[in-house]
Formats: sequence, C-alpha cells, structure tokens
Amino acid sequence: MESSPAPGTGLTPVPVAVRSATATLAAAGIDSAAVEARMICAHAAGVDLSRLLLADGLDAVQLAEVDRIVAARAAEHLPLQYLLGRASSGLLDLAVGQGVFIPRPETALLVEWVLDRLPAPTGGPGPIVVDLCAGSGTIALEIAHARPDARVHAVELHDAALTWLRRNAAERATAGDTPIEIHHADATDPGLLTQLRGRVDAVVSNPPYIPITDDLPSDVLGHEPATALFGGEDGLVVVVPLVDVGASLLAPRGLLAVEHDDTTGAEVAAVVARQGHFGTVELHTDLAGRPRFVTATARGTRRDTARGGATGREQNRHDYDDDTVAEVDPTVQKGIAR
Ligand SMILES: C[S@@+](CC[C@H](N)C(=O)[O-])C[C@H]1O[C@@H](n2cnc3c(N)ncnc32)[C@H](O)[C@@H]1O
Repeated sequence: MESSPAPGTGLTPVPVAVRSATATLAAAGIDSAAVEARMICAHAAGVDLSRLLLADGLDAVQLAEVDRIVAARAAEHLPLQYLLGRASSGLLDLAVGQGVFIPRPETALLVEWVLDRLPAPTGGPGPIVVDLCAGSGTIALEIAHARPDARVHAVELHDAALTWLRRNAAERATAGDTPIEIHHADATDPGLLTQLRGRVDAVVSNPPYIPITDDLPSDVLGHEPATALFGGEDGLVVVVPLVDVGASLLAPRGLLAVEHDDTTGAEVAAVVARQGHFGTVELHTDLAGRPRFVTATARGTRRDTARGGATGREQNRHDYDDDTVAEVDPTVQKGIAR
C-alpha cells in the first residue's frame, strides 16, 4: 500500500489503510474482507479492534506489517489467525500458527457446559479435568483459567500441535493461571492416564471429527493440519475409542462432553449411549442451531466424604457406591439459548 500520511503527522489515517486493505482482500476473493482488514490494521497498530478508529493513524513500519499480512492472505489464503499469530475460542487469546488447529467459537460452548457443572470449589483440591485432543490448549486453558482449583490435564498426540500447546500453557502460567499438565499421548490409547482411572470429574474433547471430504474452504483444507480435521470416512474413527477412554477415566457421575461434526450428532450420541458407562446422553446445538456436541454423565453415585467433618485433602476425595446404576435416558435434543 502506498502510504498517504495526513499532512504534518507522518501517519496514514486508519480509514485510508482499512479501505486499501479491504480492496486488496476483496479482489483476492476473501469473503469478509472489510472485517479482516480492520483486524489486520488493529493488529499492526497494536490496538484493540474496538479502539482502532480512535488510533491516530499507522506509521510506515505499521503500514508495512499491514502490507505483509494482506499480501500473504491474498496470495496464499493463509488463515488470518496464523498471520496474526493469535486466536481465541473463549476468553483467552492464544498463540497459533502452522501445525495447530485454529480454535473455533463453538468450542466455548463445551467449556461453558462443563464449567457450569463441575463440583463447586471446596477450599480443598479441586476437580480433575482431562482435555483429550488438546491442540492449542483452548479447552484445557480456559478451564484452568476459570477454575484455579481444578487439576487440568491436556492430551495431544501430534508434535507440531504440542509445541503450540506447551507455548500457550507456559504463557497462561506466567499470566497467573494454575499450570496444566501436558501429556504427549494418544487419546485413543486404552492405557492412557491409568493413574487417573475412575477419578476424573470431566472429560472434554474437540477431536478430529470431519468425515473425509475435500469440500472445505481453501484456507482450512490447504493449511490446517489434516490430523486435526478428519475423523476417517465416517468422522468417528477417533471419537469411538476416545469415548471408551473417557468412560475408563471418569468417576461415577463424571461428565463427558464431545464436540462433533454437524452431520454426525446422532451417531456420536449413539456411540456414547452404546458404550454402556453413561446414563443421560444429550445432544446440543451451536449458536447457529446446528448439532454440535454431545454430553453424558457417567453412571454411579458419589458418596462425598466431605460430609461428616473430613478435612483438607480428604474433603475432596469421593467414595462411590458400586451398585447404583443410573437410568439410561433416551437421547434428547437440547438447544443452547443465549
Ligand atoms: C479439532 S483439533 C481440536 C484442538 C483443540 N481442542 C481446539 O478445540 O481447538 C483436534 C486435535 O486433536 C489432535 N489429535 C488427533 N488425533 C489425536 C489422538 N489420537 N490423540 C491425541 N490427540 C490427537 C490433533 O493434533 C488436534 O490438535
């Protein structure tokens, strides 16, 4: 972009920079060119998007950064989040780049569902949460941020994603969140986290779940890792063994929440119901009304030793009645109203 500084300032006015970036992106076929242009200019100016129009303007260095990002986005359709280096699905802004799945807003719904239902803080050790297929760490880190008492474990198999997960976990710990525990492991391995077997309060997962297709936007198909996107021909290759692993980890009345493709909700609910370890199985829709995630509660009843005056660590240990079996309710459709 040719700089057009406002007289006497040396700065290019924000609307001029945004208009120019929008035109280049739109000409390259980027759908939301104007929104992206504003995001890029805000990033280059180092201001929040909401404050962009209040900025004095962009200097030559900032303008060169806008040009670099716009050119890469226009020429190669590299995902904008990779170019900006940050993305978020909930409250946290995480580092992302080549090799890691970009967190999507709908995943925040799973996190919200789990946070609403975790056992309340007691002052003792908090709930144990496992995020299977952690990617950038968005689920694990959002939960650790919201619940400093929780002991959160994040499982990721692929090296490139693991690098981003470690970086984000370190960033959040430096920012003051309770550190999470990272496991370089296969979320479908029946021997996963044996030390946590039967003790976990919530297993949450946004696994690779898209049935194999080439009908995806070019910036997704061409740049995000296939190992993060696809779950085999039917989208269930990772989900089926992962539900078994979840069942083995969960404590009685523990929570399972699994995101899925909008075409496979009924199948995922059936996988969870057939597993045999769960009572209530529910289907949830996203904000656009599409089937998006399945939740279930593990069978059994907790007998909490906190009652009767136990102290410290004991207060948060739960004993379980073996012989109580929850009813398996028929799968119900549940929308999330906002
Ligand atoms: C759809 S991405 C979700 C990432 C993150 N949870 C999120 O919501 O943004 C799925 C992640 O699962 C990882 N993955 C794929 N197969 C896996 C397996 N068998 N075990 C553990 N992680 C796996 C991928 O590398 C990718 O990071």
